[in-house]
Amino acid sequence: MKKTILVTGGAGYIGSHTVVRLLEAGMKVVVFDNLCNSSSTTIERIERISGTRPEFVEGDILNEDAILHSLQKFSVDAVIHFAGLKSVGESVSNPLTYYKNNVVGTLNLLNAMRQLNVKTLVFSSSATVYGTGSTPPIAETAPRSVTNPYGRSKLIVEEILEDLYRADPDWKISVLRYFNPVGAHPSGLIGEDPRGIPNNLMPYVAQVAIGRLQFLSIYGNDYPTIDGTGIRDYIHVMDLAEGHLAALNYIDRKPALAAFNLGTGRGVSVLQMVDAFERATGKRVKYEFANRRKGDVATSWADPSLAFQEMGWKASRSVEEMCADAWRWQSTTL
Ligand code: NAD
Ligand code: UFG
Repeated sequence: MKKTILVTGGAGYIGSHTVVRLLEAGMKVVVFDNLCNSSSTTIERIERISGTRPEFVEGDILNEDAILHSLQKFSVDAVIHFAGLKSVGESVSNPLTYYKNNVVGTLNLLNAMRQLNVKTLVFSSSATVYGTGSTPPIAETAPRSVTNPYGRSKLIVEEILEDLYRADPDWKISVLRYFNPVGAHPSGLIGEDPRGIPNNLMPYVAQVAIGRLQFLSIYGNDYPTIDGTGIRDYIHVMDLAEGHLAALNYIDRKPALAAFNLGTGRGVSVLQMVDAFERATGKRVKYEFANRRKGDVATSWADPSLAFQEMGWKASRSVEEMCADAWRWQSTTL
């Protein structure tokens, strides 16, 4: 029988790509999203890509009754939980909003799931839970520490899930720690649509290339790295989407609580990324060096071997594909 998956935040960037993959794998999908950082046109686009329209509930995870109602109405088997706020800077200015949305919202979801005996969950965590103290490649066993309320909201939820599993081992929980998601669906129909001036590198680069922004400020050229610029583990959003499918299959086979890094295991510098983008798109990206950005680490990349060993998942898309797909989305749709 077809499984029904409730995807909170399924109209957002990573959620929408995952929904496409779930539909393509023959699952039934219910998107539960309050559209605070997305638009319902994404649902139409998901249908255009996959040939199937997911159910869509415009709902808020701060409303436990609304979650209960959807879980019941659609006889949900499992939940993938993307819904959350994700801006580090905003979380520093408005910590309570972040704790309410990301922590209280998750508690509501877990309570509703428990009431209906839906005990399979994939949770969107972040490499941010590793803080600044670890030397890459970072394995799941690295100590966790956080430096801002956004990161703390992820760490708190991870700890709540650990307590929940300890109290009731019937839960099947997969915690996925993403490194730096970039790129877009190769159709160019869905992708990342940041509001205002982007904070993250790839959307900023794409907006310079299209002429919306004048130049990229590269934050720091004096790091102890190959070219002095910061190094990150950029991962194609379609690889991430496939990681969620692998995680769902895995917890079905091997019920437990397990945390996995989703990264490529490859570090790429800011200058290397700019160069890859220029080569993949034929567009010039003007840049200037600026001071280091407060809170940034010099290098971060994953040890993704556990996800391969346990779930049989590994990222396969190149940096050039990440750039070409991000550009197709930026230049044809946004
Ligand atoms: P996104 O903002 O594009 O998607 C999040 C979705 O959740 C949006 O559609 C938004 O409308 C919805 N949402 C937010 N609060 C909600 C609420 N209270 N009720 C219902 N829906 C709500 O973000 P994304 O990049 O797709 O990130 C998805 C998840 O992955 C988030 O939890 C984020 O913290 C995590 N994550 C993202 C990154 C990244 O760099 N993009 C890295 C690590 C982890
Ligand atoms: N960078 C620039 N100029 C910019 C933007 C970024 O030089 O305009 C550099 C940064 O200094 C860093 C690299 O590009 O060296 C990547 O920066 P991003 O902002 O794209 O990503 P971060 O690794 O800083 O942060 C991301 C998410 C966070 C999350 C963190 C760890 O945005 O939410 O990964 O998972 F906490």
